[in-house]
Amino acid sequence: MLKRQLGPCVTYFPQPTSIITSVNSEGTANLMTASWVGIVSKTPPTMAISLNKGRQTYDNISKQKEFVVNMVPASLAVEADFCGIRSGKNHDKLEQAGLSLQPAECVKVPLLNESPLNVECRLVQEVELGDYRLLMGEILQIHAAESAFDEAGKMDVRCFDPLVYLGGVREYWDLGNMRAAAYADGQRLVVDK
Ligand SMILES: Cc1cc2nc3c(=O)[nH]c(=O)nc-3n(C[C@H](O)[C@H](O)[C@H](O)COP(=O)(O)O)c2cc1C
Repeated sequence: MLKRQLGPCVTYFPQPTSIITSVNSEGTANLMTASWVGIVSKTPPTMAISLNKGRQTYDNISKQKEFVVNMVPASLAVEADFCGIRSGKNHDKLEQAGLSLQPAECVKVPLLNESPLNVECRLVQEVELGDYRLLMGEILQIHAAESAFDEAGKMDVRCFDPLVYLGGVREYWDLGNMRAAAYADGQRLVVDK
């Protein structure tokens, strides 16, 4: 495959679209869109987010030591973009985006009600990366939409409909079709059985 070199930049596909909820010292909630987000350990369950140190969200999390990562469904693409282009320093993004909150179980930061998957985190570590701060959060609880489960308890991912962000070209897409079963279909290429 012929390649074009892009140099040291941040183009990478796909990235999740997430809305991070946080609270300030008065308990006022803020929403911020973030795509530099991911699960980084299973033992213990840990989520990492990378925030510019100038964000209101960084200020809130560094002081309150808690945050919630809310998965964004494709139906909320416009609202998520809005939460990524305005700061909670001078906007009530919750009100302006027409979104709502619900209480979390383990942290005082609320969940985004319209998100079908919410991850409650307690800040455990912070790493300085130039203008950014990599924040590691121990996962305390995950809430998944009840409507996604069948009678056998199996989750139907179509109910989540995650919004994918293509960093570098700045576009939001939704998911296509399932192509393979993870940890299973790769077995077809295993020779040392
Ligand atoms: C799609 C998208 C992804 C973003 N991802 C991040 C991110 O991972 N880290 C970050 O610091 N800012 C990210 N931003 C920018 C912040 O969301 C934006 O600066 C926001 O206004 C900060 O809000 P706050 O000041 O209320 O915390 C992203 C913006 C968009 C639109």
